[in-house]
Amino acid sequence: MSKFIALAVGGFLLMTNISNAQAVAIKVEPQEDAPQISKHIYGHFAEHLGRCIYGGFYVGEDSDIPNTAGVRMDVVEALRELSIPNLRWPGGCFADTYHWKDGIGPKEERPSILNIWWGNVREDNSFGTHEFLNMCELLGTEPYLSANVGSGTPQELADWIKYTNHPAGTSPMPELREEYGREEPWKVTYWGIGNEAWGCGGNMTPEYYSDVYRRYATFTTDWRNSDGLVRVASGASSSDYNWTEVLMKNIPKNLIEAMALHHYSVIDWGNKGPSTEFSEGQYFTIMERALLMEELIQKHTAIMDKHDPEQKVALFVDEWGGWYDPEPGTNPGFLYQQNTMRDAMIAGTTLNIFNNHADRVKMANLAQAVNVLQAVILTDEEKMILTPTYHVMRMYKVHQDATLIPLSFESPEYTHEDKSLPAISASASRDAAGNTHFSLVNIDSEKAHEIQLDVSGLDLSKVLGEILSADKLQDHNSFDNPDKVHPESFKKIQLKGGTLSLEIPPFSVIVITAK
Ligand code: AHR
Repeated sequence: MSKFIALAVGGFLLMTNISNAQAVAIKVEPQEDAPQISKHIYGHFAEHLGRCIYGGFYVGEDSDIPNTAGVRMDVVEALRELSIPNLRWPGGCFADTYHWKDGIGPKEERPSILNIWWGNVREDNSFGTHEFLNMCELLGTEPYLSANVGSGTPQELADWIKYTNHPAGTSPMPELREEYGREEPWKVTYWGIGNEAWGCGGNMTPEYYSDVYRRYATFTTDWRNSDGLVRVASGASSSDYNWTEVLMKNIPKNLIEAMALHHYSVIDWGNKGPSTEFSEGQYFTIMERALLMEELIQKHTAIMDKHDPEQKVALFVDEWGGWYDPEPGTNPGFLYQQNTMRDAMIAGTTLNIFNNHADRVKMANLAQAVNVLQAVILTDEEKMILTPTYHVMRMYKVHQDATLIPLSFESPEYTHEDKSLPAISASASRDAAGNTHFSLVNIDSEKAHEIQLDVSGLDLSKVLGEILSADKLQDHNSFDNPDKVHPESFKKIQLKGGTLSLEIPPFSVIVITAK
């Protein structure tokens, strides 16, 4: 058994392995200066990749599938239900090949390009800046644009910002926007300065990218950043700490508001394993990779703290999720995979980690929203299904913009062969209405665990619960059986003498709301 305790160190939380102990007793430790859990931690990502945009979000105005300006309304309604706070677009790797001016103006005049990263398919640019930003308005979400640094120019980026953000009539770019039918600027706050600059974004060294970043960031706005833009530096891959070190050292703090980090849960890049028919060993390895997020955030933020002790620069984990072999029979370049209870375990534990690091992690983007990697929604022509990951995101939305309540607890171990992982993951928050929320995950594939939450300091009288569980870890929703995995009301919670008691079944997620 290992004890994991959320300690306040230098204003942020550290998960520390303390000692052996018995019960799963969770202590609630409200903290005066606890951070707010940014709603942007619950963000999403939509790339021009496979069927994410075309067929997933966008079917065109002439489609029989109900749509608004070509955007399918079943997807919009499902995402509204998640209260998605932001959507990152147009990539990913695609972003560094994307020239935004190809995607404005009359559709019949827009040039086609080859999508070289994702299946070499034809990209006709029918979904461009207007279509995306208008879709964000329909979704009620904030856009996060990823700019082309790898094959673009600072001028292109500066023009894009003027086109989307500047008032009508102030310069040629807003005039062009008006000409193409949009008078009011959309006001985009979040701007990624390239993507994976160490790889598909240009294969740059951190030293070289730091200089490139400085140049691009200089032309995004004025020297005071009076537009209040959030400029996001392309961040490290997983444990590449040198990348964060060099960027944090070389980029002046008046030019950067956020640093990105990408981490995928992958067994082996050359042999990722199936998305549904996986073994217990493959499940264990994926959970090992997913739980690594805790260490990655601790170590990257320690480097950030060294160079930015006032914590002005936020950490954005703007790509995360499980990555498996594509579904048999699908285009391997489209990264279409199914989504099981294993993905629900990744989502629940990762979101708990983000919540518990809410002081530095201010945004995160699940990769990707529809039909790609760990999607919340899958579509097949006119059909649409919600995945187990969707249900976790919906259950956890109660944490958006709530105040973190640190927890300390000792987790039993989930053991497979000669390795073990902490079985229980948890986070808690209090929302503006005074409700307290607990999200609990048990990743153990076989054992249920008794949980006792010491809530004596919280004066609670009413408790509601919801659970996502299934018969098998491999269970998933399909177009023939769309509701096989779904959340249910969870009533087996006892509130007595300042303690909330419940049993959490194997591989399940429970969210409790207490008043
Ligand atoms: O999400 C799929 C790809 O993964 C993205 O395009 C890229 O940024 C990352 O390597």
